[in-house]
Amino acid sequence: MPRIAYVNGRYLPHREATVHIEDRGYQFADGVYEVCEVARGYIVDMRRHLDRLNRSLAELSIDWPVSRAALEIILREVVGRNGVKNGLVYFQVTRGVAGRDFVFPSNVKPSLVVTAKKVDPNFQAKRAETGIKVITVPENRWERVDIKSVGLLPNVLAKQKAKEAGCQEAWFVDAEGMVKEGGSSNAWIVTRDGVLVTRPAEHGILRGITRTTLLDVIGKLGLRFEERHFSVEEAKEAREAFVSSATTLAMPVVEIDGRTIANGQPGSVTLSLREAFFDVAEKSPA
Ligand code: PDD
Repeated sequence: MPRIAYVNGRYLPHREATVHIEDRGYQFADGVYEVCEVARGYIVDMRRHLDRLNRSLAELSIDWPVSRAALEIILREVVGRNGVKNGLVYFQVTRGVAGRDFVFPSNVKPSLVVTAKKVDPNFQAKRAETGIKVITVPENRWERVDIKSVGLLPNVLAKQKAKEAGCQEAWFVDAEGMVKEGGSSNAWIVTRDGVLVTRPAEHGILRGITRTTLLDVIGKLGLRFEERHFSVEEAKEAREAFVSSATTLAMPVVEIDGRTIANGQPGSVTLSLREAFFDVAEKSPA
């Protein structure tokens, strides 16, 4: 079964799925994106992802490429045509195609690309059994990381640095030594007295959809939670640390900058959040 992508109104085999060289996504990273998990045949938290897409587009004055209802149909169609039961659906909107000029072109039609891929559910489950390692890197991104922009070069470089250090994620740290978020995930700790902590998402980080749904899970499980800044030092001393994203869900962190967290095993609170996630998340049949 060839992989099928949606590109500006057409469903095409990946090989033939291309965008124009003057697409502003390619020229200026002038676009935004979303990634939803597909699990057991459902698109997870689609409504929240579409709400965030709406916000990202509005912040950049990019129009919706198609109606929200049409986009929902396209997402389902791409997931279905690729036979994805467990995996990811990725959708990207750019300002569109226009002769290269920094200012917004007039009368441009936004571009829409949707792809889906299968992911073996055992891959992340296995990873959660051992946990991941992170490095910390100084924050060097622009201030508007609350917008889910496709301009991800600092994230690319940070995650490459993590890989070269034998780690799976890099945490951006602000000038005060406080953890912001990962290159493609939000950062959390569980304190020695069992309180879950994550940084406020008003500005300076992306308000992760997984993060938002985990807050629902935390409420349901009756766990204690604080939204506040935490330092790298506090994280190293924590009982547990973990990251969250649509691609990893709650994923235990067992090492930060070479320092083992607690006993070096995935934490029980993290694993209970991971376990309860699917039941609490909103599920749309794909
Ligand atoms: N990344 N912070 C950053 C910088 C991210 O790129 C992501 C997601 C998150 C978590 O957001 P969510 O829970 O909505 O996935 C936080 C996606 C998965 C990616 O780029 O692949």
